[in-house]
Amino acid sequence: MQVESGTALPRALADVFDSMQATPAARGAIQDLSYRSMRNWGCSQALLAALTEKQPYPKLKTLLCCALTLLAETTPTYAQHTVVDQAVVAAEADFELTRAKGMVNAVLRRFLRERSTLLPLVSQRAEARWNYPQWWIDKAKAAWPAQWREILAAGNTPAPLTLRVNQRKASVEDYLAILAQQDMAAMQIGPQAIRLAQPVPVSRIPHFSEGWVSVQDAAAQLAAPLLDVADGMRVLDACAAPGGKTGHLLETAKLDLLALDQDAKRLERVAQNLARLQLPAQLIAGDALGRSWWDGKPFDRILADVPCTASGIVRRHPDIRWLRRPSDSRQLAKQSSAMLDNLWGMLKPDGKLLLVTCSLWPEESAQQADAFAERHQALRLNAPGQLLPLATPEQDHDGLFYALFQKPPV
Ligand SMILES: C[S@@+](CC[C@H](N)C(=O)[O-])C[C@H]1O[C@@H](n2cnc3c(N)ncnc32)[C@H](O)[C@@H]1O
Repeated sequence: MQVESGTALPRALADVFDSMQATPAARGAIQDLSYRSMRNWGCSQALLAALTEKQPYPKLKTLLCCALTLLAETTPTYAQHTVVDQAVVAAEADFELTRAKGMVNAVLRRFLRERSTLLPLVSQRAEARWNYPQWWIDKAKAAWPAQWREILAAGNTPAPLTLRVNQRKASVEDYLAILAQQDMAAMQIGPQAIRLAQPVPVSRIPHFSEGWVSVQDAAAQLAAPLLDVADGMRVLDACAAPGGKTGHLLETAKLDLLALDQDAKRLERVAQNLARLQLPAQLIAGDALGRSWWDGKPFDRILADVPCTASGIVRRHPDIRWLRRPSDSRQLAKQSSAMLDNLWGMLKPDGKLLLVTCSLWPEESAQQADAFAERHQALRLNAPGQLLPLATPEQDHDGLFYALFQKPPV
């Protein structure tokens, strides 16, 4: 319900958890149901339109969509009668919904009777079939004509749990051996990346609290090696929070690193992550579009992990597709273009700047990089460009974009 009015799902869930006393198990179940519902939102909205004469009010719609998500599953998580009963109990317990409990019961039971005709019927609509807004589907088709189906499908599968092994604490081989001793199946999928066969809470990850590993997608683990840092370098991480790439940079070399983020609250998470890793950096809450925080000393390396639509990480954040608007991509690209121009002025001659986005849209990524190189006569160095999130065993990573630039020597 809150997502429909523009609140990101993690924020909405945090508000819910703050307002109730729930056991960790109940929180896990609520979170799981919310994420599943977002992944099935297009289908359940279409089902609801077919099952009701007029659109139910928001709270009722949310309850019905959650229940329909579970009832429409090919491999059901819960018995059908349990889902219907629990939805009716939930309606009964809520002041706003209690009068609608008969309707909840009737709609869900009708769905079960007509399931085999209703599901194929609604699947004829692209939004219901793919579970993305129509404009998003059109944009994916236009940007990636050969791969759009796989990309959209991958965005509907839950992301794996990928770890980055801190090379200061252990080798990948040694850490795999520790996991094996604890019967946790895992495989190496990148130079420092290990994918667990079964996601677990971080409290169950060996030596997590001592900073031996961090949770980080395999594609995101390419940033630090690409930036090519060495001991003693002065490095700016311009959009640092929550600090995934900051930590990796500091694990790679002894750096004089400034972690900047305009969101002071998010910057606290950088501090927490670095405290866990026991690695030092200067943290400043400031705007990468300005320079008031800069002491005027140029940087050897700049990481510009710019704000973007996050269209490449929808499998982790299934609400994003419903929150974004078609114009967001252009607006964010304009903002990050100004940010890159500003940061370039703080880079030493011969220094390197890495542009990163977690977007699939070319105006934020490839087109942005081309325009930047042309504006500044920047040398383009080897970088992967767009990594597509196809969720194959070889490419089980988020959709990130990388472009690396070098400033000409004076
Ligand atoms: C993609 S996230 C960065 C992820 C981070 N590099 C990591 O690996 O964990 C983008 C960040 O940019 C920050 N941001 C957005 N606009 C900014 C600005 N004008 N100046 C500095 N930071 C900004 C956001 O607060 C957000 O934390």
